[in-house]
Amino acid sequence: MGHAIKTPAAARISRRDFLRSSATAGFGAALAGAAFGQDAPQAQPVPAPAAAKSADELRVAVIGCGAQGRVLIESMLRIPGIRIGAICDIWSYSRQYTGNYLKKYGHIAATYEDYRDLLASEKGLQAAVVATPDWVHAEHANACLRAGLPVYCEKEMSNSLDKARSMVLTARETGRLLQIGHQRRSNPRYIHAIDRLIREKKLIGRVTVDFAQWNRAKADLLGWPEKYVIDQATLDKYGYGSMTEFRNWRLYKKYGGGPMVDLGSHQIDLFSWVHGTPPKTVVASGGLDYYKDWEWYDNVMAVYEFETQEGVTRAFYQVQTTTQHGGFYETFMGDNGSLVLSEIPQRGNWAMREPHAPEWDSLAKAGLLMSETVPIQKSSTKNIYVDVRVTAEAGRWPLPIDLAKPAHQPHLENFFDAVRNGSRLNCPAELAYESCVAVLKTNEAVKARRIMEFRPEQFKA
Ligand SMILES: NC(=O)c1ccc[n+]([C@@H]2O[C@H](COP(=O)([O-])OP(=O)(O)OC[C@H]3O[C@@H](n4cnc5c(N)ncnc54)[C@H](O)[C@@H]3O)[C@@H](O)[C@H]2O)c1
Repeated sequence: MGHAIKTPAAARISRRDFLRSSATAGFGAALAGAAFGQDAPQAQPVPAPAAAKSADELRVAVIGCGAQGRVLIESMLRIPGIRIGAICDIWSYSRQYTGNYLKKYGHIAATYEDYRDLLASEKGLQAAVVATPDWVHAEHANACLRAGLPVYCEKEMSNSLDKARSMVLTARETGRLLQIGHQRRSNPRYIHAIDRLIREKKLIGRVTVDFAQWNRAKADLLGWPEKYVIDQATLDKYGYGSMTEFRNWRLYKKYGGGPMVDLGSHQIDLFSWVHGTPPKTVVASGGLDYYKDWEWYDNVMAVYEFETQEGVTRAFYQVQTTTQHGGFYETFMGDNGSLVLSEIPQRGNWAMREPHAPEWDSLAKAGLLMSETVPIQKSSTKNIYVDVRVTAEAGRWPLPIDLAKPAHQPHLENFFDAVRNGSRLNCPAELAYESCVAVLKTNEAVKARRIMEFRPEQFKA
């Protein structure tokens, strides 16, 4: 691809506008003004607790202190015994902002532009967190693993299957832990819904169809304050064609996988979790139909087939970037009911029972569900009464679990617990590789305009 894309005037923002938006944003939200820069609900801007020193503190390095690096730091500061010892980012803005924030909470982190200098100089580290753009995950995670560090690396593992495979192999070879940031895998609401209710209790019966979507309103390209422009020699050194590409990396083929990979990676992973197996086939339609400056598809609709012990199930997925209609959520539909989930609980955190299904009251009594709430019993039209329980939406049985923490905290806790106590990772690299195959191949299916078959060995690194 040609990556000398001209910087659009719209992508630059004035220092005054920038300062205004930074001042009103939470730590994680700084500079993430446009919608395409973030794929998780922002952590609430609740102040993190001040760091307390303790003897068994883990010293952690963070490589990549952009929007997501800062969201992860915000969560890490809430976890007892974690000390951010070093940070690395090629952009002075990210280094300064993050360094100042950490100071406020008593973490004086050594600051680096190049991860190689960090690894060469910092000898007392015990773990690394990688939150750089997808195309450099393998380079950064593999170097940290080879330096002896367990690694938490953000999803998507990579925008190339070869690079993703190299991460699984390096973790295996070095014997170090590699957790990938599919944080729903550690979210107690998702674990309860999928492991306990769908898989163990068979609450919704045989799951016959899944649907998930991530719809976003149209948005401008991400910009940068003029003061923090990176000179072209430095951009070249780190492989970025221009500031526009550097800031909007997820939209270009060299650096990311577009919305299908960026957003779909979270949700396609859930289909496999529910069915206990990766998909058998995918057929997809999509295109770059709306935006002028992107390379990746701005919309994709995909249908996956899963072959389960009970038979074939189909899952429909869509990602849209020109409408936020319906937002983002996942629905699992079975012959006895359905279950709706979203990382934002107001958008999905309940089950709905089919009228013929076995009773759920005993599950509610046992605390596995909350009691049914029926929105409307009866409603009247002009002159006839309609029993809406027959024709309209069924009652909702809310799930009883709340996550009173930022969405990424339990996944980081799981990682640090594995580092400290040897507990099991919820999303080790081998498992994440399966969903990486599924989402990267979906982009290929869009291009091929035909059904793609997966062979089971394709999901193994
Ligand atoms: N799990 C989630 O919910 C979630 C949410 C958002 C983003 N992410 C993932 O987090 C990662 C980062 O995304 P983001 O939204 O923070 O992007 P971003 O562009 O806001 O931040 C990336 C940061 O990495 C820095 N960087 C780029 N190349 C580098 C290099 N070679 N060495 C060191 N630093 C470098 C940039 O300067 C920037 O500060 C991506 O992999 C993304 O998919 C995950």
